[in-house]
Amino acid sequence: MSDQPDVALGIDIGGTGTKGGLVDISSGSLVSQRYRLDTPQPATPTDVSDVVAAVAARFDFAGPVGVAFPGVVLNGVAHTAANLDDSWIGSSLHQLIGPRLDGPSTFLNDADAAGLAEAHYGAARGQQGVVVVVTFGTGIGVAVINNGELVANSELGHIEIDNVEAERRAAASARERDQLTWAEWGARADTYLKALENLVWPNLIILGGGISKNPEKWLHHLNPRTPVRLAQSTNNAGIIGAADAAWMQHRADATQLIQHRAGRAIQPPAEPFPS
Ligand code: BGC
Repeated sequence: MSDQPDVALGIDIGGTGTKGGLVDISSGSLVSQRYRLDTPQPATPTDVSDVVAAVAARFDFAGPVGVAFPGVVLNGVAHTAANLDDSWIGSSLHQLIGPRLDGPSTFLNDADAAGLAEAHYGAARGQQGVVVVVTFGTGIGVAVINNGELVANSELGHIEIDNVEAERRAAASARERDQLTWAEWGARADTYLKALENLVWPNLIILGGGISKNPEKWLHHLNPRTPVRLAQSTNNAGIIGAADAAWMQHRADATQLIQHRAGRAIQPPAEPFPS
């Protein structure tokens, strides 16, 4: 596909699958089919980079490419990799993957990508104050958004509750691993959200990740004091947010960037005295 001004490619590396799609940045919607390949096991830097390159090649796209990674990413370098091979730690995504993409690249944490998607197009759009987006999947990812701006790499899925890492007990994968009923998993997720809201005191919690496909099974088991919404772009949040991040870094000029962030994230205040 040709290099269109408001389209970017998003790729989301997950513990089990690596998915990509072209995203229209003005609407935050996919404008291509989604393409998925299994994430190789063990998920080593070389093998995962090959899969990312194969996903990207499918789209024949020379514009900006955002890649969401399931660990801390600072300046294009992976600093943690809880659900991938440990050899990722200290590896440069920028050096490993960047040269294999046709367009300019951006690398960010996967939960942060989901947070951007929700802040700019989804359930956190226009929300003032602090929003936390929690993704329940292979791990627990958390994005913190303050007045529409992302606070990157918050890693709050790893807080310890009763000396056990929250992700170990309450990720979606923990339900399968420990063969929990929805009520049992819901109780664990509820304990986690209550611990989280006592640390961060958000105005809104948004729940996403693989588990958000069937909320009727578990949502009624959660009872935090903070208002809860479901993520809007459940399955594609990582792709959309990664594409959005790449477009903001490589394609938007200063004025567009301000409008994109402010215009989408924070709505102008309502007219105080309607005439
Ligand atoms: C990682 C996070 C990631 C989350 C979801 C956690 O294990 O530490 O960086 O966002 O899993 O993939």
